[in-house]
Amino acid sequence: MAAAFDAFRRRAPTFDSTASLDELRLREYSRLDEGDHIYLDYTGGGLYADSQLRAHMDLLRENVFGNPHSVNPTSSAMTRLVERARARVLEYFNASPDEYTAIFTPNATGALRLVGEAYPFRPGDRFLLTFDNHNSVNGIREFARARGAETSYVPSVAPDLRVDENVLLKYLDEIGGSHHNLFAYPAQSNFSGVQHPLEWIEEAQARDWHVLVDCAAFVPTNRLDLSRWHPDFVPLSFYKLFGYPTGVGCLLARNDALARLERPWFSGGTIVAATVQRDWHRQIEGFAAFEDGTVNYLTLPAIEIGLDHVDSAGIDTVHERVSCLGAWLLDELQTLRHSDGRPAIEIYGPRTWTGRGATIAFNFLHPSGRWVDERFVDRVAEAHNVSVRTGCFCNPGSGELAFSIAKETLIGGEFETALVLDDYVAAIGLPSGGAVRVSLGLPTNFADVYRFVEFARALLDVTEADVPDDLPPRLAC
Ligand SMILES: Cc1ncc(COP(=O)(O)O)c(C=O)c1O
Repeated sequence: MAAAFDAFRRRAPTFDSTASLDELRLREYSRLDEGDHIYLDYTGGGLYADSQLRAHMDLLRENVFGNPHSVNPTSSAMTRLVERARARVLEYFNASPDEYTAIFTPNATGALRLVGEAYPFRPGDRFLLTFDNHNSVNGIREFARARGAETSYVPSVAPDLRVDENVLLKYLDEIGGSHHNLFAYPAQSNFSGVQHPLEWIEEAQARDWHVLVDCAAFVPTNRLDLSRWHPDFVPLSFYKLFGYPTGVGCLLARNDALARLERPWFSGGTIVAATVQRDWHRQIEGFAAFEDGTVNYLTLPAIEIGLDHVDSAGIDTVHERVSCLGAWLLDELQTLRHSDGRPAIEIYGPRTWTGRGATIAFNFLHPSGRWVDERFVDRVAEAHNVSVRTGCFCNPGSGELAFSIAKETLIGGEFETALVLDDYVAAIGLPSGGAVRVSLGLPTNFADVYRFVEFARALLDVTEADVPDDLPPRLAC
């Protein structure tokens, strides 16, 4: 490994400028090395630093906190910390409170649901989205359909899985009258790591679209500056950014776009008043109208702690580091060959490091060229204490393009009658239930990616006959 590390540093001279993260890893993430883990599933979930836990637990141990939004001392103490966390979120993303509101949600999905269910879709309106989207964005089409709006998808183009911008502009131009139109895309694909241009925000807004940029997979390793970019809606989950706590996400919404949303119901905490004898309620203004019931208040101070932690690590340093390590890993994976010289890996998405983030999707190939069943990869990975993700990562559009699945394959026959994922995989005729995804994050070091390549070598020269037939059923998508 020492020789490989020297060669890597020569190739990526800026890596040394991120040495502070090696120290941070030793100090704050020692459990990774103590447990001999190779953790490369940061797009699944980030990891927390020891000090985040300590700071949060100390705060809870040393104080008495009541349910916020009352005037008693323990309640006001909690309210102050909740509002500090909210202000800190805006500050972290450089979002002016005059322009943006931060709404706490259970996760990015909760933020997307808020937009989907309240966006004022009407017949004639449009919901436009890229093929490359998480299912929690795809699901908004059900709200659009129920309200008579039309959903259209902009395709990505294999093998890079990027969108042809001329095609996108044509879709964006197809807008008529004074409709409500919502365009949604991810800043970084949770499947391929492709980074779609943030410049699209202005292009779409200039054509009268509201723009939702899903930043769940982007913000853990990239700076999002909301004084430079002005999307209408930004959903994200904090555990992806700094690991702890789970169960808290956020919708960053532009105030003018937020004012257009029409909540389909009201609940405790979202109204000034409601009456029973008369069918009447008055919605509160601002974030409170979107936070149903009691917020997850004891965890919210941990958001401030987590953001402070990422700030002290430096998001630009994290970005530089995962770019150096990711570029190396992407190249190394592509050089892997079976003994007969055939490629051992098929990459989905960009093969070079331009315009992409530190998430790499691929399949292992048998010497025959057929994919290695991802459940076998899981089994070998477990034996090496490697944590990566396999499947379609809740991003079916990218999967359909990456695996060249035609629309006709998805209609009728066995596909319609399939009930469990294994049956869908069989109906589509795929030799595997998806792909393998490695993703890098704040604590990733050279040893992680080097050892991952060593693990990948364990799958060289493995034939179909070497794969046992007792693989478990696939989990649902
Ligand atoms: C791009 C993207 N959007 C949305 C989500 C949904 O996040 P959550 O499951 O935290 O709601 C994910 C989760 O992986 C994601 O990667």
